Amino acid sequence: MNADLTLLLDELERFGAANDGGIARGDPASAQRMLNITRDTGEFLAVLVRATRARDILEIGTSNGYSTLWLADAAAADGGKVTTVELQDTKYAMAQENFARAGLADRIDALNADAGEVLRVAGDAAYDLVFLDSDRTQYAGWWPEIRRVLRPRGLLVVDNAVSHADEMASFVDAVKADGFTCSLVPVGKGEFLATRG
Ligand SMILES: C[S@@+](CC[C@H](N)C(=O)[O-])C[C@H]1O[C@@H](n2cnc3c(N)ncnc32)[C@H](O)[C@@H]1O
Repeated sequence: MNADLTLLLDELERFGAANDGGIARGDPASAQRMLNITRDTGEFLAVLVRATRARDILEIGTSNGYSTLWLADAAAADGGKVTTVELQDTKYAMAQENFARAGLADRIDALNADAGEVLRVAGDAAYDLVFLDSDRTQYAGWWPEIRRVLRPRGLLVVDNAVSHADEMASFVDAVKADGFTCSLVPVGKGEFLATRG
């Protein structure tokens, strides 16, 4: 990772902490929280992308693009790309600015859209790696499409698997019931990993 990207990630970490720290739970402004992954999760994602040589990556839940930058920088090493989806206009605009500042815009296809719609029209086996960090109430409903767009041996990574384990339970059960090989990794807020077979 180059020094400029390291500085930008540091800046986004400070921004996220200050921004999110100023918004109480239940506050009407809570949708404005960035809710970024932790730095060690970013490092973990980078290792997974490089080790699996993932080239086609789908991220659901861009926010202001912090996690996308980790994924895209790692994917760039093998000529890969990240498609990332964000519903909120303001966060999408912030992410676009961050992608340009990082010099990674050509590695990122950013969509201002509903993830359910994006999944519905995505091709079969289109992605090597899917990173899910979005509205957890939708995960179980999205699972049939996520399973369809993942390549054989493709990898699913889901954030908040420890911090919000209760909310993820039915989704995790559905993934396991489909015979995926799964692991819960205690990095950051807890990463649920699943691969076919
Ligand atoms: C936890 S944040 C993502 C944080 C980001 N991955 C990071 O680490 O920088 C979840 C994001 O998912 C977005 N989101 C929620 N529902 C969505 C949907 N149906 N489609 C696309 N994005 C959605 C929210 O607006 C929010 O910005």
